[in-house]
Amino acid sequence: MDNKELIIVVDFGGQYNQLIARRVRENHVYCEVYPYHKAVAKIKELRPQGIIFTGGPASVYEKNAPQIETDVFHLGIPVLGLCYGMQFMAQTLGGKVESAEMREFGKTPIDVNTASPLFKGLQEQEIVWMSHQDYVAEIPAGFEIIAHTGNCPVAAMQNTVKKLYAMQYHPEVLHTEHGKEMLHNFLFEICGCKGTWTMANYAKTAVETIKKTVGDGKILLALSGGVDSSVTAALISKAVGDHLTCIFVDHGLLRKNEGDEVEAAFKNSGVKFIRVDASSRFLNKLAGVTDPEKKRKIIGEEFIRVFEDEGRKISSVDFLAQGTIYPDVIESGAGDAAVIKSHHNVGGLPAVVDFKGLIEPLRNLFKDEVRELGAELGLPDYLVWRQPFPGPGLAIRIMGEITVEKLAVLRDADAIFREEVANAGLDRSINQYFAVLTNNRSVGVMGDFRTYDYTLALRGVTTTDFMTADWARIPYDVLDKVSSRIVNEVDHINRIVYDITSKPPSTIEWE
Ligand code: XMP
Repeated sequence: MDNKELIIVVDFGGQYNQLIARRVRENHVYCEVYPYHKAVAKIKELRPQGIIFTGGPASVYEKNAPQIETDVFHLGIPVLGLCYGMQFMAQTLGGKVESAEMREFGKTPIDVNTASPLFKGLQEQEIVWMSHQDYVAEIPAGFEIIAHTGNCPVAAMQNTVKKLYAMQYHPEVLHTEHGKEMLHNFLFEICGCKGTWTMANYAKTAVETIKKTVGDGKILLALSGGVDSSVTAALISKAVGDHLTCIFVDHGLLRKNEGDEVEAAFKNSGVKFIRVDASSRFLNKLAGVTDPEKKRKIIGEEFIRVFEDEGRKISSVDFLAQGTIYPDVIESGAGDAAVIKSHHNVGGLPAVVDFKGLIEPLRNLFKDEVRELGAELGLPDYLVWRQPFPGPGLAIRIMGEITVEKLAVLRDADAIFREEVANAGLDRSINQYFAVLTNNRSVGVMGDFRTYDYTLALRGVTTTDFMTADWARIPYDVLDKVSSRIVNEVDHINRIVYDITSKPPSTIEWE
């Protein structure tokens, strides 16, 4: 990869490790995160322009506090220590770290020395985000204090000769008002970066790498129509054209028009695109099934069977491609186990395909970078900005048994909801929103007639990681419009409710 400029983030288990990487990349400097116990070997191998230590929950005094090889301070590569990272730097180099009686937490004014390259262009008083109990009470020899607060004698320190810098607070969170500028200064003033990393460059180099790896080989990709697999397909197709075969399994549980949209985007794009209409296979297997986990299992297994059946029809496959993205593979410094998400939409690798290797060209990208790359590659907006959609599809948004009729009702209602959210300009700020067909029926009145029909639930959430989520405050007038359109335009729904629970205690999906 064309990573002439690289920053390595040493992850000490802090909650903001990925955020730091994002902030560096926003400056057009490529950045990778490594757990602390692997980081120094990587630093020696890759010789980055700079190193950032994250914070972490530990105290340097704890027996099992994370440690790294201390020669990292003598490689001549600039280091920026944040929070725990600062305390580790201070203690290792002969300073003194103590525990305060009270935790310092929240937005805090600090006095900074604007002569430091770290604070170039900033004010003498800045507002920063503090979250710590331990603090550096004495700086190591060769260092000087460059910021302090009323409670914290060393809010930042530097050793310009050794190019070592540290901050007790978190410049990566937005509450630190000029945190971006501080990180920018570290990258550009101290590490000498120029900010040459762009999506256009990334695409160009990724295409070259794929060409080199694959040569004359054939690649197979399970295309779900989600952002990640769509961008993977677009990128690989640019590299190898019709040596890529995309199998798009339409399980009959997609949203309205979704299958056609995916087909339209790829059918004439130069790749071999196979759309498999497997809806009757799936619906037969799901007949009478009401248990959510059983639904998931059936769909996951059937997906692999269909994929295998199609794979067998292709004469030879050398590589399998997957849309794995960075947060799926990133290891946390807090634990030794790699957190590798099983690929939701595929549910495992098909056994029948005998392939030489895996191609995962998005492994180094965050979700929003994947979208940026998709746009760079010319994918349509409706694919690039598609919200996450679960592999089992509408099967887990229909409570109880799945039937063709219920699927049609839910598709139409969901399409209206999505259309109105988009009309209100909320489609990029609400991270996931959809309709759920409950199993509940209630009495209503339409014209002069009594009805006994289904209750539809609407769900909308805001979230960054989908592990926790808040219910989206969709304005009443938007909900009102959605509600009246759905009851007027879609048969069999006579009551609509909006889900106002967060996750936890609820989950995002209803099943
Ligand atoms: P929950 O409902 O667990 O959802 O709060 C979190 C995120 O995961 C998605 N989700 C799934 N995705 N297969 C998938 O591919 C599944 O079985 C599945 N269940 C939930 C959900 O849409 C949300 O984005």
